[in-house]
Amino acid sequence: MNSADENVARPGGHLGQELDAALRALMDRAHEVAARSYSPYSGFRVGAALQLANGEVVTGTNVENVSYGLTICAERSALVRAVAEFGPEIRIEAVAIANLNGAASPPCGACRQVLAEFILPNAPVAFPLAHGIRVMPFSQVLPLAFEMELK
Ligand code: THU
Repeated sequence: MNSADENVARPGGHLGQELDAALRALMDRAHEVAARSYSPYSGFRVGAALQLANGEVVTGTNVENVSYGLTICAERSALVRAVAEFGPEIRIEAVAIANLNGAASPPCGACRQVLAEFILPNAPVAFPLAHGIRVMPFSQVLPLAFEMELK
């Protein structure tokens, strides 16, 4: 196994281990919510599930628009829902992303930046790649998030 495969969990296992049970359950929630995707333009049905530090799980799906640029991704839709339900103090402990297209779907750059606002640096982020589920700490998913510290 080369180093690029280090964080890939396959059925039967990453380095002999199953994908962590809690992350597997979160992935199931992401998969379920993807069935409610509104994606008539791309046909790409994405779901995201956020494990919050308060014990709650919040899900979201992508919602497209005929004015394509107004589309909201599954990850951001879950995040705004989490803030609306539980307030601005939420902290994200884990993220799972799934799609119903059998495709790779790492979170887009915009979603990474938006997640950065609320996520714990070591939070695992699980998403499908071509050959299995990859799990990476958020700090590796977005190493240099934009921050604004004014002098
Ligand atoms: N999409 C997501 O939901 N999450 C991402 O991180 C990337 C892309 C959606 C947006 C659009 O509805 C479809 O996938 C195709 O880009």
